[in-house]
Amino acid sequence: MADLIHRPRRLRRREPLRALVREVRLSREDFILPFFVCTGEGVRREVSSMPGVFNLSVDEVVRDATEAYETGVRGVILFGLPESKDETATGAYAESGIVQQAVRAISRALPDLIIITDTCLCEYTSHGHCGVIRQGEVLNDESLELIARTAVSQAEAGADIVAPSAMMDGQVGAIREALDTNGFEHIAIMAYAVKYASAFYGPFRDAADSAPAFGDRRAYQMDSSNAREAMREAELDYAEGADFLMVKPALPYLDILKAVRDRFDLPIAAYHVSGEYAMIKAAAQKGWLDEERVMLETLTSIKRAGADIIITYYAREAIRAVFSF
Ligand code: PBG
Repeated sequence: MADLIHRPRRLRRREPLRALVREVRLSREDFILPFFVCTGEGVRREVSSMPGVFNLSVDEVVRDATEAYETGVRGVILFGLPESKDETATGAYAESGIVQQAVRAISRALPDLIIITDTCLCEYTSHGHCGVIRQGEVLNDESLELIARTAVSQAEAGADIVAPSAMMDGQVGAIREALDTNGFEHIAIMAYAVKYASAFYGPFRDAADSAPAFGDRRAYQMDSSNAREAMREAELDYAEGADFLMVKPALPYLDILKAVRDRFDLPIAAYHVSGEYAMIKAAAQKGWLDEERVMLETLTSIKRAGADIIITYYAREAIRAVFSF
């Protein structure tokens, strides 16, 4: 076949050639690292289903955030494990709440680090649902007020971006209005716009101790079969004033991520969730997969599908791997 004209292999011969024509590159600014903050001092408790991920007290989270920053991580997202939980999620919007304390401490130590706070009630409610409950139902409009209060309190503590994840209708609008009336019109909203009711959140619920005490989240999070509905959800958050749109989980929903990317011009985030992390870890620990290569291939696929920002428990390892060659 000497008469072949097109030979794509010409550009794959050597690594410098492959690098020259590489279409997607991971960079340190792509990644956001999640942290789970708990009460106490000197606490560093590994999450059993997420090797390498810890519940950290405020002093320890400052230490890890500093290390992460030195590695190249430029943004973190914080989740809280409060001292106690109640029906109305008081710990979510308390001035001395665990996330509020962590935001103050981290921003004092690392003024250039971007701090995002997850804005939800499930880690703070005794029943583990993302809103207020009456007669077994998660109430929408009654929950909005508490979610908005939580966002304002996180902004007061010094968060740069609030990230509502409860999937209550109207939560982005309610937060925007509350932030603006409290003098926080400069604080951005990263909307978990398209969040599916996913079994891939399993390990997170160990990490954040936030499994619902009864039922599940399918009455507010999305059905995994629906793609058109995802566009509607994204459209609503866009209209309500979201500054970023997020799709979550990432890998099982790359088609959705691509569709959101194509339709909206806002920055798009993807959450590579706990179960996605745990699967790679478990297989790697058994020696069945090459952890670093699978991690990089996965994160590259998420970026290729259209994510500008990737929230991942692998942020540090990914940055180290990208900079090691
Ligand atoms: C809170 C929240 C969850 C996650 C992010 N924010 C859990 C859930 O909705 O059940 C999941 C993140 C992960 O699995 O890594 N609502």
